[in-house]
Amino acid sequence: MMAGGTILPVPATPETQQRWQLRITFQQGFQLFMLINLVFLLLVLLCSLFLESQVETVQQDDYQNKEFTVQIPTIDIDSLYSDPRCDFNKTLNISVDPKSKFWNSRSIPRTPVRDYKVIVIWTRWWGVRLWGVQDHYCPSMPECVFTGEREEIRNADAVVFHYHDTPKVYSKLAMPLTRFPHQHWVWFAMECPIVTRLRDLVSYSGVFNWTMTYRNDSDVLTAYGSASLTYKMLRGMKIDPNKDYALGKKHLAVWFVSNCYKYLPRFAYAKELVKHISVDVFGQCGEVICSKKDFECSNHIIKQYKFYLSFESYKCQEYITEKFWRNAIENKVVPVVFGAPKTDYERYAPPGSFIHVDDFESPKALADYLKNLDKDKEKYNQYFRWRTRPPMGAVPEDYGRWCNLCRKLHQVCPTERKVYTDLDGWWKGEDNDACEPVVLKDKSKDPMYAIYF
Ligand SMILES: *[C@@H]1O[C@H](CO)[C@@H](O)[C@H](O)[C@H]1NC(C)=O
Ligand SMILES: *[C@@H]1O[C@H](CO)[C@@H](O)[C@H](O)[C@H]1NC(C)=O
Ligand SMILES: *[C@@H]1O[C@H](CO)[C@@H](O)[C@H](O)[C@H]1NC(C)=O
Ligand SMILES: *[C@@H]1O[C@H](CO)[C@@H](O)[C@H](O)[C@H]1NC(C)=O
Repeated sequence: MMAGGTILPVPATPETQQRWQLRITFQQGFQLFMLINLVFLLLVLLCSLFLESQVETVQQDDYQNKEFTVQIPTIDIDSLYSDPRCDFNKTLNISVDPKSKFWNSRSIPRTPVRDYKVIVIWTRWWGVRLWGVQDHYCPSMPECVFTGEREEIRNADAVVFHYHDTPKVYSKLAMPLTRFPHQHWVWFAMECPIVTRLRDLVSYSGVFNWTMTYRNDSDVLTAYGSASLTYKMLRGMKIDPNKDYALGKKHLAVWFVSNCYKYLPRFAYAKELVKHISVDVFGQCGEVICSKKDFECSNHIIKQYKFYLSFESYKCQEYITEKFWRNAIENKVVPVVFGAPKTDYERYAPPGSFIHVDDFESPKALADYLKNLDKDKEKYNQYFRWRTRPPMGAVPEDYGRWCNLCRKLHQVCPTERKVYTDLDGWWKGEDNDACEPVVLKDKSKDPMYAIYF
């Protein structure tokens, strides 16, 4: 650096003193200039780094998302009259449902000579980009190929959009730039309308052809579990009809709960319940023993109990989650359910497999009933009778969510068209009746709004 100031001869005259001061000022100015330059360079560097990272994300998101054209020859619809998949009496009719529109295309795309369907998972999955996802999806049905590679959009029969990874408000740029009329764009959500409320679904009107949710009026059912899958799982097992399911269960009732937002309706109920019966509470709102996705750990605990509180966060139609299927049913523990109406559980769950809180006039009455079952082995085991008795009525078929999508693609009439003209209205229901309202404060994650047992 400039250290010249110190080696200059000591000035004698006022004139040289003046120059000396000027010199110092010049040197200081130069240093300041250099400093500004340095800061500027640093800024430019930071800016370019930032921009580069931006460009990178855009490139990643737009990966192979280019417009292109493919010749789509038309086919005479008459050739499909003998196709068992097509019921033209039904599909030729314009639907009267105001939430979605059905029609029948006069043209179908040139179908390549292949007997499998291609499904592109277009969005990320809770922020994570999916690559080479085939094995994870529907390995039992090789007639469908799943991929996260966007360039496959040219061959796609269906394109799946995970609701959480779509923009909050519809943006053309986030969607494939070329859209074939035969492609099914699928809106996928496992959460209930209260959780998805931050998406502006009105802006997605007329975009999606199919929905894929836990609700039975979806085009593709993607429930957290089902009687169909449960019975399929049991089929291969040798189950002793006289097995005592109370055996080895040392404790009474257990609850794993991690959303501690105290205005959720389940907490008022649970607070009352725990006054009359001992409930061991684990998870963020109770004792933390297992890490969040360590199901081996939580299963090990749950299995030691007679009852599992399958209390859903939200009371929404048909919203029955892993709290019921994975935590209770799979662990052979009787679920005490709170959430969807009893009629929904009756339609979906194995018969006689659960205790619904609505059957009791108060939490105390429920507590008394559970204590009663605790003492009566015979009555407790009634809740497992379904395991050795196949269901009487027809259980709705379920092959698991991705296989359900695969089957639907193979079964749909090639000329059938559908689009959700009012996705928001369909999802939230008439007058928002799909879910019971919840008080949602802005700071619902604030510890002040948390309840701990
Ligand atoms: C089409 O729908 C209307 C109203 O639902 C019905 O009256 C009519 O019979 C239907 N037509 C056919 C061919 O099914
Ligand atoms: C469609 O309706 C016609 C009469 O309207 C009937 O003859 C025909 O069998 C129906 N086709 C199917 C597939 O239901
Ligand atoms: C679907 O659910 C609705 C309301 O929850 C019910 O009214 C309807 O019967 C169900 N449909 C089937 C096929 O289960
Ligand atoms: C999906 O909806 C779009 C937009 O309305 C439409 O152009 C397309 O033909 C539909 N595809 C199917 C398979 O229904």
